[in-house]
Amino acid sequence: MTVRRILYYPNPVLRKEAKLISKITRETRHLARDMLDTMYDAGGIGLAAPQIGVSLQMFTMDCGDEDEQARVFINPTIIDSSEETEIAQEGCLSFPEQYADVERPFHCSVRYRNLVGKIVKESFEGLEARCVQHEIDHLKGKLFIDHVSILQRNILLHDLKKLLAERQVSGPKFQRS
Ligand code: NI
Repeated sequence: MTVRRILYYPNPVLRKEAKLISKITRETRHLARDMLDTMYDAGGIGLAAPQIGVSLQMFTMDCGDEDEQARVFINPTIIDSSEETEIAQEGCLSFPEQYADVERPFHCSVRYRNLVGKIVKESFEGLEARCVQHEIDHLKGKLFIDHVSILQRNILLHDLKKLLAERQVSGPKFQRS
């Protein structure tokens, strides 16, 4: 098990567009395993590769439904999304302890490659659709704060800055909790 360090905003990698994965190799599968380990360790439901400093088009997701499993998406594209939207609270592992209401389409369909290279088309709704859209945003260098008002964003970033400064003072032990 390898838990990688999660990058926090404003690390510039989070704003870069991630590169397509041209070939799925042993390294790709290794990266996927590390990302799942990191996501579970941090208690997240989704993690995009740029969040651990790897600018490649991959994300992991496990929204915790009983019959759902950990999933890996490679080179994902949203091919359809509903006009129906939903506003719900959202957070991000790169913005610890920060949350904001974000409006997103309630349904979306995604085309991606799985870990054996097969092209899959899948439809999602609710929390899973939200998570998929949030993670695909990451691969474009887009972040959930881009979906909220400037005022809300400023408050959130101010709180984040304060939190990260406090953590630095109290040392790495606190940072990992
Ligand atoms: Ni995120």
